[in-house]
Amino acid sequence: MDSVRDQSIVVVGASSGMGRASAARLARDGHRVLAVARRAERLEELREDLWKDGQTLATCAADATQVAEVDRVIATAVEQFGRIDALVYATGTNIPSRSLEVLSAEDWELLLRTNLTGAFLCTKAVLPVMRRQQSGLIVYLSTGAVQYPDVSGVAYQASKHGLNGLSYGTRVEEKKNGIRTTILYPGLCDTEILLKRPVPTPKEVVERALRPEDVADVVAFLCTMDPRCHVPEMQLFPAFV
Ligand SMILES: NC(=O)c1ccc[n+]([C@@H]2O[C@H](COP(=O)([O-])OP(=O)(O)OC[C@H]3O[C@@H](n4cnc5c(N)ncnc54)[C@H](OP(=O)(O)O)[C@@H]3O)[C@@H](O)[C@H]2O)c1
Repeated sequence: MDSVRDQSIVVVGASSGMGRASAARLARDGHRVLAVARRAERLEELREDLWKDGQTLATCAADATQVAEVDRVIATAVEQFGRIDALVYATGTNIPSRSLEVLSAEDWELLLRTNLTGAFLCTKAVLPVMRRQQSGLIVYLSTGAVQYPDVSGVAYQASKHGLNGLSYGTRVEEKKNGIRTTILYPGLCDTEILLKRPVPTPKEVVERALRPEDVADVVAFLCTMDPRCHVPEMQLFPAFV
């Protein structure tokens, strides 16, 4: 790494919302970014948007819940950049039928797989690279519902609580290798995940929510902190909460 302003960063879940805004912000700041998600056409749109502004970023269409695809993502980043200074896990989903009265075992599995197992697979795949470097940062996008339980559903909340075990456990085991982990807990943010709510969020509430760019500001701050600093967790809420 030449400096904390010249990094190689993988953003998983970069086709929309906070992940897209983070990938765009990091690329505009001059970092080498690999943007990852399943929807290749959305990643291409992001690449074209940046291109118009004279910026660039690499893309890799992949499903974060599939071991072979995650391994391919990490191999692509190493091939293109030579190293990985940070990985941002911004992947996440929820479902309308989230209350215990209607939640199915299949949907429980889907949320755990997408929100937690994918994060584990990315962590497991990137650690050998970071161990070789004796440095690296992994940022996990969680939710403020961890501190303030709400009606986002037990599967969603259980998956996000699981990220705490993953993040803190990884930090304890890998600290000796210079690897840091951060859990970021955002509150309500105006992204596509809100369309999956069982009841639409009122327009006047969405207007006062965080914007994806607000989260991107925090992600950029975390990724560019000097590696002597470690932020275990951070909360970011709309001011009205
Ligand atoms: N918006 C909020 O109010 C809010 C509040 C607190 C926390 N969060 C959390 O913030 C994170 C980002 O969500 P967002 O609000 O930005 O929502 P979003 O716009 O729906 O973004 C979700 C991202 O996850 C990706 N994704 C989903 N399943 C995937 C898979 N199997 N493999 C790879 N990528 C996958 C999606 O891309 P593809 O579909 O193209 O794969 C998309 O890029 C999530 O963890 C969410 O739980 C959101």
